[in-house]
Amino acid sequence: MTSRTFPSYSCLFCAILFVALLFGAAPLFTQAQTAAELRPPPPASRDAWPQQAVRAPHGMVATDEPLASRAGLEILQRGGNAVDAAVATAFALAVVEPSAGNIGGGGFMLVRLADGRTTFFDYRETAPGKASRDMYIGADGTLDKQASVIGMRSVAVPGTIAGLELALKTYGTMKLAAVMETAIRLASEGFPVSERLARELESQRPDLQRFSISRRIFLKDGHLFRAGDTLRQPELAAALQRIGKLGAADFYRGETARLLTEDMARLGGLITLEDLANYQPKIREVLHAKYDSGGHAWEVLTAPPPSSGGVAIIEALNMLQSVPLKGWEDVESVHMVAEVMRRIFADRAAYLADPDFANVPVAGLIDPCYAKEIAATIDPRRASSSKVIRAGSPHQCGISAGNATAPQTIVSLGEGPHTTHFSVVDAAGNAVASTTTLNNSYGSHVTSSAGFLLNDEMDDFTTQPGVPNALFGLMQSDANAIAPRHRPLSSMTPTIVLRDGKLSFVTGSPGGPTIISVTLLSILNWMRLGMEAQAAINAPRFHHQWLPDRILMERDFPASIESALNARGHETKRVNRMGLVNAIAIDPATNDRLGAADPRHEGSAQGY
Ligand code: DON
Repeated sequence: MTSRTFPSYSCLFCAILFVALLFGAAPLFTQAQTAAELRPPPPASRDAWPQQAVRAPHGMVATDEPLASRAGLEILQRGGNAVDAAVATAFALAVVEPSAGNIGGGGFMLVRLADGRTTFFDYRETAPGKASRDMYIGADGTLDKQASVIGMRSVAVPGTIAGLELALKTYGTMKLAAVMETAIRLASEGFPVSERLARELESQRPDLQRFSISRRIFLKDGHLFRAGDTLRQPELAAALQRIGKLGAADFYRGETARLLTEDMARLGGLITLEDLANYQPKIREVLHAKYDSGGHAWEVLTAPPPSSGGVAIIEALNMLQSVPLKGWEDVESVHMVAEVMRRIFADRAAYLADPDFANVPVAGLIDPCYAKEIAATIDPRRASSSKVIRAGSPHQCGISAGNATAPQTIVSLGEGPHTTHFSVVDAAGNAVASTTTLNNSYGSHVTSSAGFLLNDEMDDFTTQPGVPNALFGLMQSDANAIAPRHRPLSSMTPTIVLRDGKLSFVTGSPGGPTIISVTLLSILNWMRLGMEAQAAINAPRFHHQWLPDRILMERDFPASIESALNARGHETKRVNRMGLVNAIAIDPATNDRLGAADPRHEGSAQGY
């Protein structure tokens, strides 16, 4: 077995610092400093980060957490395929990464089998039947920004269990109980709390302690966990055991459903037994685009709506097709990509929503002709103004523009931790890219009496038209308004890249809206710039999302690039870190799997 786990490094701290930097929020910054006192110094610079990916000939799992990567690897070594291992990994993350790994949230899983079949499993949460468009708006007409991110009313109907069961039934070779064994053991026997988790739980104390079960399980009844303590989760172990035995039926119609709906009734939540029984994961067609670069034919397989990310990434890659990119120490390259990001985010804000209820013009948005028209509006020497740039009128070649109307919406940014992306490749070449989330770190912060944290995904809806949502400051279109059974728009973008018809790169990231930019950059680094696998993950990241009109740049981006961007008319802002890409690349010469976990976190790539 080959593996590498990066040194402990608090991503929660990064996120807090990020938000503090973004808004100049003094209370948040104080909280960040408290966390900083507890943490070992992070690697001084990206030069101290690993420069080489973990190499293995057969299979590879890359996640945020060593115990989760190991859970997936063990399944591969026992002869399970990538989907078996992905389901095992997802359940392990639900135990060892409580901030984001989950059974009380939702996610996406993109599968590409070695025989070329591709499937997108959508187990995004849905709004409960009693949810309504104005449910977070008070009698005075103002938005209650707490209600959509904390407490029972922020919880949407979880999709994870239904989605994982569906993926396993569709492509797995092992029984649910078998792939859940490690997760059940980790929950019942416990696992050692890492320094990172201890710091994270302490920093979450104010919100977790508001809910008695969260306080008991995650704050040790107020005593707090220290690094090295054992975190046992007996109620979660019992729920996982029931699910292992009875499948999703337990979660949506059985004992777990009963416990969850009793919690809902007691704590003012909206989810009913009927909501749970009606939840349906979806199998969707994978978005697909082709490019030529470096003498190779590339294909990008990515997430369809209700993700906004796949559409945005294809639109961006289309616009960049004829743009020569040299790297991120070249101001022209950064300028062009930032201008492209500006434009894809304008379209995202206007058009993307749940495709089961809204008419999302996907074909037009990902059409190369449309991209060419939009790209023609970029001045290669001067920054555009987002006051002027508006969503376009997406259309396909030969079909006139103008059928689609572009609602004018505004987006601003806040990055809320935390979501998690993992990648799996097995010995046969089957690949899985999966991103899963509770939305905010620790979701709604409510733990159900069945032992798992519940999401706050309701905040990904347009909570009040014309007003930013609480967590990401996003203003989105009316098509993403709250309505029963609708899926809130997501930025999660699990993506798989092929080179000359063969598996080449498995990628994705957390980070709210920055997911789209960070995943795009990882693809550009691998496909267009020919970086080595680990270099593609380590490379500095930047983000532009139309509004606010500025480029966010990781802190160790060269200063010369920032001033050159400023000279072109870009406003810039430094942030600590962006995204956590746990990727796997394939060495085209040897067919080795190259596990490139993100050194910005405690990422772990393990292979055999
Ligand atoms: O689905 C989405 O786009 C968000 N709920 C993701 C949240 C997220 O990435 C937070 N993590 N940094």
